[in-house]
Amino acid sequence: MSENFCITTPIYYVNGNPHIGHIYTTFICDTVARYRRLRGDKVLFTTGTDEHGQKVEKAANLKNVSTQKFVDDIAESFKVLFKDIGIEYDDFIRTTQNRHKIAVQHIWSELLKKDQIYLGHYEGWYALRDEAFYDEKELVDGKAPSGADVEWVKEESYFFRLSAFQNKLLEFYKANPNFITPKTRYNEVTRFVESGLKDLSISRTSFKWGIPVPNDEKHVIYVWLDALVNYITILGYPCIDGEKWGFWPATHVIGKDILRFHGVYWPAFLMAADLPLPKQIASHGWWTNEKEKISKSVGNTVNYDELIETFGIDSLRYFLLREIPFGQDGDFSKSSFTQRYKSDLLNSYGNLAQRVFMFINKFNNSVSPPPFSLTIEDKNMLSLSACLPEFDSYIKDFSLNRYICAIFEHINQANKYMEIHKPWELKKTNHKRMQTVLYVLLDKIRQIAMFTQPILPVTSDKILSYLAVSTSKRKFSCLNDALKCGIILEKPEPLFSKLDE
Ligand code: MSP
Repeated sequence: MSENFCITTPIYYVNGNPHIGHIYTTFICDTVARYRRLRGDKVLFTTGTDEHGQKVEKAANLKNVSTQKFVDDIAESFKVLFKDIGIEYDDFIRTTQNRHKIAVQHIWSELLKKDQIYLGHYEGWYALRDEAFYDEKELVDGKAPSGADVEWVKEESYFFRLSAFQNKLLEFYKANPNFITPKTRYNEVTRFVESGLKDLSISRTSFKWGIPVPNDEKHVIYVWLDALVNYITILGYPCIDGEKWGFWPATHVIGKDILRFHGVYWPAFLMAADLPLPKQIASHGWWTNEKEKISKSVGNTVNYDELIETFGIDSLRYFLLREIPFGQDGDFSKSSFTQRYKSDLLNSYGNLAQRVFMFINKFNNSVSPPPFSLTIEDKNMLSLSACLPEFDSYIKDFSLNRYICAIFEHINQANKYMEIHKPWELKKTNHKRMQTVLYVLLDKIRQIAMFTQPILPVTSDKILSYLAVSTSKRKFSCLNDALKCGIILEKPEPLFSKLDE
């Protein structure tokens, strides 16, 4: 049955250019969104940019351009990148848009009306890089736990009554053990809340680049309250009876560094505003580059342009999704990247398609053959639709690497089938059987390509187009539609190119 499914990336800070961490989060969401669309669900996949706050204002000042021009340029560079790497989002939200200002000011007024906000004075540590307040006891060697520098801030501030939500949050986590995944992150959040919550400062007066507090314009709204609300702005908030609102609750995919904001503050804001909570928060790990923490100041960002140029977009996407189990940290190294490219893409998947297509092109007059009689083994080869429940469960758990492994088992099975049945020998002894074997291989490749669409969109499209599978026949409901026989298979181009050693 078709479901509404909303998946979101975090909205990205525009104080610097996009990097591999942003690409990773976005690939995960795009993959799950594509899978769910192919499964027949109605999907709303959103991404965007987080453009307010002191950090962004400071970065613009350093460049000596107006803040608006600065954020426009970087927001544009995210859009261009996402187009180049084939991200099929449904909405791109920018927090400087008017629809967002309306939503944020509305929720502020609601919170005020419900007596969840009061005016006071903040005095304490603030880390600009994280745009986060820290307690003295959280500091490690005088820095934020993330390693960011902290400064002492003392200013008039509005506060949100976060402390009143400790028990309600704990009850909610207990009743919804899958609310935060993986389990280690769930435990981290519950421990944090159990240790006690203080009221949260939610406005700043020391800079201007933000959404003004309604009726008190010397304050701007704290950038995290502003940013988190994006997840409901995209659904038309403050209107909560429109069609878009039918996509709430959403699934939020985030990195482990921003768990506290999503797992604690966001649910508390929503509870306070009497709005339903998100469906799930899925928190992934961090990438290092050649074992070092990626940092702009060190200048060791992964040069993804070069990788895409040499290996293609699918290869980068494949590597990031295949290499690490969801939730764990991973290391990006040129050697592991090329090794995966060679063993999985070039030698397994690419080779299977190339051998089969080439053989038909050469020895079956370039025509896809009909099957004659199918053995039990042949039929088993073509029953990928039976794997759907297993694949669904991997996607539901964000186990994209297990999803990929399961599909690659079928690729290996097909390669073995070709070795065992040797169409090059059947060509001389049993032409009909040779045609049946080729039919089985071609249809197996079609079914595999249907399932690789979410992880290797460009490659899968090449295969499915080559096999004349129309776009309307690429949803999983069409898995058992037989392959067309009698199609002309031109001389195939390799799916992945060989590398110069
Ligand atoms: N603007 C906030 C999010 C607000 S959402 C309401 C933010 N932006 S960010 O640009 O700094 O980070 C966005 C995402 O990129 C986060 O999920 C973060 O975990 C991810 N990554 C940044 N560097 C990363 C790696 N090196 N590896 C993996 N992901 C990382 O936080």
